[in-house]
Amino acid sequence: MALLIDGKQISAQIKEELKEEVGKMTERGTTVTLAVILVGEDPASCVYVRNKKRACEYIGIRSISCELPAKTTQEELLSVIKGYNEDDSVDGILVQLPLPEHINEDAVIEAIDPKKDVDGFHPQSVGALWIGKPGFVSCTPAGIIQLLKRSGVEIEGRECVVVGRSNIVGKPMAQLLLRENGTVTICHSRTKNLPEVCRRADILVCAIGKPKFFTKDYVKPGAAVIDVGIHRNAENKLCGDVDFADVEPVAGAITPVPGGVGPMTIAMLMENCVEAARRKESLK
Ligand code: GUN
Repeated sequence: MALLIDGKQISAQIKEELKEEVGKMTERGTTVTLAVILVGEDPASCVYVRNKKRACEYIGIRSISCELPAKTTQEELLSVIKGYNEDDSVDGILVQLPLPEHINEDAVIEAIDPKKDVDGFHPQSVGALWIGKPGFVSCTPAGIIQLLKRSGVEIEGRECVVVGRSNIVGKPMAQLLLRENGTVTICHSRTKNLPEVCRRADILVCAIGKPKFFTKDYVKPGAAVIDVGIHRNAENKLCGDVDFADVEPVAGAITPVPGGVGPMTIAMLMENCVEAARRKESLK
């Protein structure tokens, strides 16, 4: 039986810790503020934004939101971002992705002040991560490091295999595992002998975007298996990139879907907002 890595419980614990800290900040007269920008009415994005606002409310972070119609021009969006950049009361700025097709996502991400880049998507944040300088880290991989640490999974000196090379998950994940002194391999769609490479892993991070792709053939007995995928099957049930029923008996530890990596993303966004406010306080 594998250890079940409980993202629901760990994210709840992080939120409790943040709630306590934000309470103390509030007593000192510091209000933590997150500005959330949503363009259009993509149903999944609306749910994500609602959940982010709820988490803010629970922790005591002030959230302000700017909901713009899908026909908003890039110029209009950039001007909203500029307003939040210049507003000293705003600690973090989040532009929910994806954006409508006529808007250049890179230009929007680059317009956010890196000091307020709580998603960690700005090239300056990404560069800072790669050279070991302070900066914000993308929330999902940062959450995975917390899951491993808080479940007692040792990273130092161990073989870590990350399957997937996206800018939001795979690449920052590899860098964070390296920072924890793991030995890291990044795999992708052109990797040869993928099952063989995955079977080397003590820690296997599955972020390939294909439902139930990873079977026990990809897993070394006793490995920690982290499932970043989230898919809905024909019966409307959620599943991940890992075939949980097949892998769980051989894994040493495993994250479920739902209730594994998912809840950690918002918890780490909250942590980044509080961190932005801590940094602002330290400059006073
Ligand atoms: N869309 C899907 N995931 C994310 C995320 O982590 N941040 C933002 N801004 N948009 C997203």
